[in-house]
This record gives sequence, structure tokens and C-alpha cells, in this order.
Amino acid sequence: MATQVGIDAIAVHVPRLFVDLTGEWANVRASELGEASVDALIGKVTTGVGVRRMAVPDAHEDSATMAAMAAIKAIAAAGIDPREIDYLAVGTETTVDQSKSIAAYVLGMLERFYGVALPEVSTPQIQFACIGATYALEAAVSRIRAGENRKPYALVISTDISRYALRSAGEYTQGAGAVAMLVCEQPRLLILEPGLMSTISQDERDFFRPNWSTTAVVDGKYSIGVYLSCIEAAWKGWLERYQERSHEQPGARPDHLLDYMLFHVPFPRMAEYAAARILGSTWREAADPELLAALPDAGEPHDRAAWERKLAKTELFRQTFAQKVEPSLSFGRNVGNIYSGALYGALASLLDWAATTETDLSHRRIGFFAYGSGASAAVWSGIVAPTYRKMAINLAAELETDAEGGRRVAVVLAAYERLHSHRETELDLAPELQARLRGGEPLSAAETQELALALETQRVRVRQPDPSIVAPHSEFALTRLGTERRADFTDWGYRYYGWIAD
Ligand code: HMG
Repeated sequence: MATQVGIDAIAVHVPRLFVDLTGEWANVRASELGEASVDALIGKVTTGVGVRRMAVPDAHEDSATMAAMAAIKAIAAAGIDPREIDYLAVGTETTVDQSKSIAAYVLGMLERFYGVALPEVSTPQIQFACIGATYALEAAVSRIRAGENRKPYALVISTDISRYALRSAGEYTQGAGAVAMLVCEQPRLLILEPGLMSTISQDERDFFRPNWSTTAVVDGKYSIGVYLSCIEAAWKGWLERYQERSHEQPGARPDHLLDYMLFHVPFPRMAEYAAARILGSTWREAADPELLAALPDAGEPHDRAAWERKLAKTELFRQTFAQKVEPSLSFGRNVGNIYSGALYGALASLLDWAATTETDLSHRRIGFFAYGSGASAAVWSGIVAPTYRKMAINLAAELETDAEGGRRVAVVLAAYERLHSHRETELDLAPELQARLRGGEPLSAAETQELALALETQRVRVRQPDPSIVAPHSEFALTRLGTERRADFTDWGYRYYGWIAD
């Protein structure tokens, strides 16, 4: 029998700060976005899109600090020694450096935190929009299955900050957070089914972020269509592989093969569109007359989106969605899109839901539908290990707000916008010229020339992180950016991280 490999422990980390999308943000944005009323915007965002709160990183946080925080939580949850890890892969699309892997920064933070040396750890960063962490997980699992590891554990971390332009339709689908997963043989949480992962890729322009931009460029409605067609193709591949490997037909109801369906969640409503696509196409082809009779129309629908909308209102769909998908959506509703980790936030939500509702997940098959814009999708499956309860995570501790007795704090609009517009460099101008520009004063000819030259040559200097909204405590923080460019020492733009105790 093949070795069982999978996820032994999972932990999430979410920044303390969040924007309450039903409060000040909605009051101000309703007119700016041309909505009929504040209630109409709140209805659209909370019901139509499905998100209430979006996490925002504070001035001392970035993808590397969030990844390191998730890592120490996963290591604590598994109760292992960090020296038992020899592979640390980070999936991200919001890197902190164009060259150095975030995994190396995380490794340094872990070494200092635990007071150990971890020199023999592989530290790749894997990027492909929101599917990067899934590719990292696949690499970690394959490495262990192939017997290439010298230590029992691989650490796979997804970490991202989802950022769109203020006052755009993407703004309320932002978020930030990291999910860390320890991968090993005989995992206590989830066994990945070998040979079933089905992946597809196509060259698309639905969503991307040019090197010079801090916010994503997205064609929102188009991106939804690409997401749907990619996961449908990957799902068909999973079914074919299932048939080949098990030498049996998927049966009259292939959807019955999956007890839970976890989707990449850019916003919770997307999981509903995705479920309608997967279940709709599967049900239409099913050899079950009773099922076919329960669908909106017989035969091939002409307008697919309209048909799926009708399907989404049927009792059959609502019940199936409530059972198989809804339990995985609390993370997306409370945090927003965390890009590469959104699918794994869904897994954390499912585990948390099972613990609070006392639902037994042992031996259940979970279908994972990963998607990354640009575009690639993967469908794979895992069986929940009977020992999973020992590895349960406390999602409430991450998601609860201060009003609910938790650690999260609502941020006011002005502070959120200031954090959003922060840049790590600024034009390198003389202080007097800088002050005159900020004050909107007229410039002399010489000053105009200096400004033009600085713009043309992109002469910039490093800006240090602003003061935090909530001062860091018991967490990793970006403490400063290097500024030296001497012949004997250079660290210009290098990131220094530290553990800030209470
Ligand atoms: P939008 O223009 O804000 O929303 O765009 P809308 O007008 O399409 O409305 C959304 C839904 O709200 C509709 O529901 C409305 O009817 C409903 P539907 O018709 O679809 O059933 N609605 C209301 N419901 C209740 N009460 C009301 C109300 N008003 C309207 N008062 C969009 C939404 C998601 C397109 C936008 O936010 C966006 O562009 N987001 C960013 C792109 C995105 O997330 N794309 C997802 C697929 S691509 C992906 O997942 C990859 C990604 O994660 C990146 C990566 O891979 O790295 C993004």
C-alpha cells in the first residue's frame, strides 16, 4: 500500500485590524460608488458578495510577518520541534522582495524565535496568483511521497494581502492573512488521495498585478467566468482520474463522492456560483431520472449563467450547498480574500464548524477546488483522518473582534486609507522642496527642474514603516528597512524583522 501523506496540522493568522463593511466605510462609500443608498451598498456587499469584515495589515505587518505567525501556530498545534522540518515552501502573490524568497525571511524569524539553527531547510517561494499555495502543497506532498525528505515534516504557508484600488468594485473583496500547514506521512488531519489531482492552465488576462503596481488589475465579471470554466475542466479531470484509479464508474451521482466541497473563496458568493457550475454540470449528466426532473429545465441550457441562477434557487441546490459548502465560508465572510490561502481558510472554517456543531468528519472525503487567476485550476481530494479532532484549530480566537471578546479591532476609514496608500519609497527631494510640495506652494524654476529630474530618474529613498495603529505585541513585526549603500556594507531596502514581546 502507498504511504499516506497529507496535512498533519493547520493554523491561520489574521491581522488584528479589520474594516467593518457595514459601518463608516459603507456610509462614506455609498455615494462615492453611486449606490442608491447606504443600505443598498450594505446589502450588496454582505448578501450579494457575502463579506462583512475585511482584514487589513497594520504598518508593521506584511506577507512575511503573517507567514511566520501562522508557522509558529502550526508548529505549536502539531507539538513538534521546528528542527523536524526540512522543507518550507511559501505560496504567495504579494511578495516582499523581487528576488529573495519570503520563506528565507520566515526561516530567519523562526530561527531567532526558537533559538535554533535551521540551515538544511529548502525554502522556495511559489507564485501563481491564488493557486500558488496549492502548487506548494503539491510539491511538499510529492517530495515526501518520493522519499526525498530527510526530516519528517514540510511546512507549507500561504500568505497574501489582497489589495485593489480604493473606491473600485474590488475594494470590498480585499483581505489579508496566512495559513500554515504541516505535511507529513501518516498525517493526523487529512490524507491526500494520490493520483487524483487534476490541474489545468490557460493564458488569461482576468486578473494580474504588473510589477510596478501595488494593486491588482482585474476585469471582475470576466474573472468570474474564467474561474468557473477552469474549475469545471479540472473537476472533469478529477472524475476521469477517479474512474481510472478506482476502476469503477463514479456512479449515478458523482457529487455523492464528495462529502464537502471547498472552493477558492475570493468572496463567499463566488463559492455559490462555483457550486452551481460544478453541481449543475454534474447533475445534468447524471443517470438519475428523479434528479433530472428536479433541475430547472431539461436539456442543454442556452444561457448558462441564467440557468445556474435558477438552479441556485432550487431546494435541491440549497440543501446540497448548505451541507457541502456553507460550513466552509465563515473565514471568507469575516476576513475577505486572502488569495493563496483562501481555500485553506475554507478548510479551517469547516474544521471549526465541525467542532462547534459536533459533526463527525472522520473518513469524510473533501473535494478541494483551487483557482488562481491568469489562470490555473486544480481539483484534488482528501480523506479526513480519524485522529483529526486532536488537531482542531480555534478559529474563533483568530476571528473574534474585541466587542466579542477577541483580539480584532475595527479600524476607522481614515486610518485604513492611510495604510492602503503607504508606499515604502518616496521621491528623494530636498526637505524644503518636499515641504513646499506637500503644502501646495508654487515652485521656483530650479525646484521644478529638480522635481522633473527626480521623477525622470525615479530617484527614490526608503521610507520607514509608519507608526502602527495598534502597537505590536507578542508577534513578529517589520521593524525597519535598511538604508545603507556604502562600499563596505549595503542593505538598501532590506527588511529587518523582530519578535515584539508584550
Ligand atoms: P460588483 O459590481 O460589486 O457587484 O462586482 P455586482 O453588481 O455584480 O453584484 C454582485 C451581486 O450582488 C449580484 O448577485 C447582485 O445581484 C447582488 P447575482 O446577480 O450575481 O446573484 N446585489 C445585491 N444583493 C443583495 N442586496 C443588494 C444587492 N445589490 C446587488 N442590495 C465583483 C462584484 C466580485 C465582480 C467585484 O467585487 C470584483 O471585481 N472583485 C474582484 C475580482 C474577483 O474577486 N473575482 C473573482 C473570480 S477571480 C478569483 O477568484 C481570483 C482572485 O482571487 C485572484 C487570484 O487568483 O490571485 C481574485
